Amino acid sequence: MLEWVELREKVLSRVKPSEAEEKAIRVFSGETIKRVNALLQEAGLEASAELHGSVAHGTWLSGDTDLDIFIVMSPKYSRGDLEKILGVLKGGLDGDYVEAYAEHPYLRARLGGYNVDFVPCFRVDPATGILSSTDRTPHHTKYLEGTLDDELRDEIRLLKQFTRGVGVYGAEIRVGGFSGYLCELLVLGHGSFTGLLKAAAGWSKGTVVQLATGLDDYELRERFREPLVVVDPVDPGRNVASAVTQDTFWSFVAAAKAFTEKPSGRFFWGPDVKLGKMDALGLLDGSTDVVFLVVDESRAEVADSLWGQIHKSREALARQLEDNDFKVLGSSAWSDEKRRHVFLFRLEAESIPQVAKRWGPPVSLSKNAEKFIQAHRDAPGTVSGPATEADRWYVLSKREFTSARALLSQLLEDGGRNVGVSRNLSIRVLQHHRLLVNEEIEPYLEEGLVDHLYWFLKGRPHWLD
Ligand code: CTP
Repeated sequence: MLEWVELREKVLSRVKPSEAEEKAIRVFSGETIKRVNALLQEAGLEASAELHGSVAHGTWLSGDTDLDIFIVMSPKYSRGDLEKILGVLKGGLDGDYVEAYAEHPYLRARLGGYNVDFVPCFRVDPATGILSSTDRTPHHTKYLEGTLDDELRDEIRLLKQFTRGVGVYGAEIRVGGFSGYLCELLVLGHGSFTGLLKAAAGWSKGTVVQLATGLDDYELRERFREPLVVVDPVDPGRNVASAVTQDTFWSFVAAAKAFTEKPSGRFFWGPDVKLGKMDALGLLDGSTDVVFLVVDESRAEVADSLWGQIHKSREALARQLEDNDFKVLGSSAWSDEKRRHVFLFRLEAESIPQVAKRWGPPVSLSKNAEKFIQAHRDAPGTVSGPATEADRWYVLSKREFTSARALLSQLLEDGGRNVGVSRNLSIRVLQHHRLLVNEEIEPYLEEGLVDHLYWFLKGRPHWLD
């Protein structure tokens, strides 16, 4: 086991940008901002380009450079003007652009070897009301400028890499985890990476990390009701940790506990073994069954909407399986976000016995008992009973489905809309889908899905090995 001091240096040597990298990005962003400002001026727009996000804060991770250039507009404009402003940029800068939509439009470009996001926002004070969710960002930069020093920046980089390593980095719906800004505030709240992890090892549901907002914990917990509460220092109405789900919250706590007991590089990096198809298939050993739903995509939505639909549909289908007596041991979904989505349901068994014992009301509740008897005595599915056992009625009846695949196949005949598969996905399901059991997935095991299936079956975080 490496001592923490040694490990810390090792992690930092990999995630901290070199002076050359830092200089290059500063020169590039400075030039880009100059060009954008000239374009905005030419077009007579009351707006200016500014660098924000992790590069502006000095907390980005080496080699993973997303530049956030914000076009900060006068509040005299409205949301309807956002497209116009982006049009000016598209017309004036060369490079490959993709128009992306989060809560509002922005441009994503590949320029000078960097991913650059051009994000419009309004120059307003968040305390008195924002016009779009990105309006807080310039204020975050200002707040952090006054509070961060180089030592804290290193500590933040350690936390960002740790949350990546344990798979909880990112506020997007797919992950439901910790945003970069949340990592920054968490380190500020506890003074250091290890200080934060020590505290996190003892977190419970509804933990509040205070940054001198003047509000007490109880009040904040009541107001936000989320697993983790970190009030935005620039906007007391917002919980910066609102994206953190129960799952990511507790896996972070579990990892923090394990790390504080025994620090290891494993928490910072994923496993560095390259997995092959056979590694994943080898775990399909017949002790449980996995049913896969493979859906081909032709027009994927932006990632956040897509993953919202995937999560909702997966939960709906798992519920249907449970309601029909299939014991769901775990479910998950994988998607390349462009061409294919795969839902995975791990079941105690894909095939279950034909007959089930269904309990009815107690004998003493005459009216309910009568109803139960009427409903079952001549029902075609009844194999035995109705009869009493101790104080209750019961019946042995045939299940409608003994195969999970057959059940799903019927439920998905209309795309699954009626059982809670979200609208757009149900259209794809209706067009074409496949239901596969266990190793039948083999021909579809592409890169990415192999790893997903392996860790889904392995069922334990890689840092626990
Ligand atoms: N932001 C936010 N809440 C989020 C995501 C982003 O407030 N859930 C704001 C923050 O002001 C952040 C800025 O948007 O500084 C840019 O966010 P993003 O580009 O997603 O990440 P970074 O914070 O730049 O971190 P990194 O690049 O290291 O992932």
